[in-house]
Amino acid sequence: MPIKIDAKLKRNIILQYTVVTFAVTLGVSLLLGTFLTQSLTEQAINAHISFFPKIISLTAKNSPGIYSFILSESASRRLEDIEGFASGIESFSSVFRVKIWDSNGNVIWSNDRELIGRNFENDPNYQLAIHGQTNSLFQLPEKEENSSERFAGTVLEIYTPIRQADKVIGVVELYEAAHELLGQIEKNRAIIWSLIAAAGILIYLLLFFIFFRAHMAQKDTILKVERTLDATIYALAYLAEIRDIETGKHLERTSKYVELIVKELQKSSGYSNYITEQYIVDLVKASPLHDVGKVGVLDAILRKPAKLTPEEFTEIKKHSVYGAEILKEANKKIGFQSLIEIAIQIAEFHHERWDGAGYPHGLAGDKIPLSARIMALADVYDALRSKRCYKDALSHAQSVKIIAEAKGTQFDPNVVDVFLLKEKEFERVSIELAD
Ligand SMILES: [Fe+2]
Ligand SMILES: [Fe+2]
Repeated sequence: MPIKIDAKLKRNIILQYTVVTFAVTLGVSLLLGTFLTQSLTEQAINAHISFFPKIISLTAKNSPGIYSFILSESASRRLEDIEGFASGIESFSSVFRVKIWDSNGNVIWSNDRELIGRNFENDPNYQLAIHGQTNSLFQLPEKEENSSERFAGTVLEIYTPIRQADKVIGVVELYEAAHELLGQIEKNRAIIWSLIAAAGILIYLLLFFIFFRAHMAQKDTILKVERTLDATIYALAYLAEIRDIETGKHLERTSKYVELIVKELQKSSGYSNYITEQYIVDLVKASPLHDVGKVGVLDAILRKPAKLTPEEFTEIKKHSVYGAEILKEANKKIGFQSLIEIAIQIAEFHHERWDGAGYPHGLAGDKIPLSARIMALADVYDALRSKRCYKDALSHAQSVKIIAEAKGTQFDPNVVDVFLLKEKEFERVSIELAD
């Protein structure tokens, strides 16, 4: 069962398109959203920290003791040199920790006294700052120098170089509670994601609408072409049939009989691979062409209101070869596999017999194409059930008996078995479509 569902999915072009465009639109939206929100976050943080070098240099100008504090040997540093600078920095509401580093990676002052005198010269953010680049990161609690800040939610650490006459002499590191900045970033991210979701949905719907319209237009065209083909096949078949005085609805009935047999035959294991859905459609559509070659038989024979002489019968037998020739000519113009190929088989071989005693080639058994073996039975059942100038119509029961007796001689035994299974439906069709 899962195989059948899978095959149906594969055929459903709209579903395929829906799934693929949905996946592509979703993928592109996610990529775009991720890229935009990331660059927005970076920009917001960069804009935020870009003020700090100015703040630091202004604060240092107001408390110039900071320069001598950083540049002195540790033993001779005087706390009063740093106090003005530190309190200036700490006055920013969200700053809660200040560290001042010298150019060797030593923390020379902090409002966390425990860190003073320790060296973290390999800290990558310190390294960036001491080389002149203001930078920041959200708190990494695992960093050793941050052991005392683990209590404080999300924190933005900002490393800013302190310059004296354009030369970086040390680094100021500020810890800032980041929830406000993050809140703003989060809001903007939400706006971007909503816009992208709306755009994605719009694009998806638009693409679906365009595809759906194109698909429907194409379907409509295919339907019209198919109907034109059906009508052409019927016209071609009737061209021959109309000259035959006694055939009536023969073409319609035999199509139905062929359909009954082939659909039932598909259920038996030996044929399930050979008889595809397309085969069934093609065979049923092609079946009216089985006698198209009658167009080449003289009126005097075809319309003779009496039993034919052996010579006349030899003439009329040629209709199978004529039919195949007409259709082979048509097939040359097509150049791809089509129902014309089945039509050729039917036209050429529908008077062959399972035992090899048929015409025109005397083929036997499965040398005769399956399509023609099916057509042969459908054609004969209809002939038996129809009145001719030289015979009465037989009853359904008589016809069934004759066909059952011809199993393995005139007809393919499997086709007869299927006929016997479906004979009630043959009778129904013969009544419904009676002349
Ligand atoms: Fe025929
Ligand atoms: Fe026929």
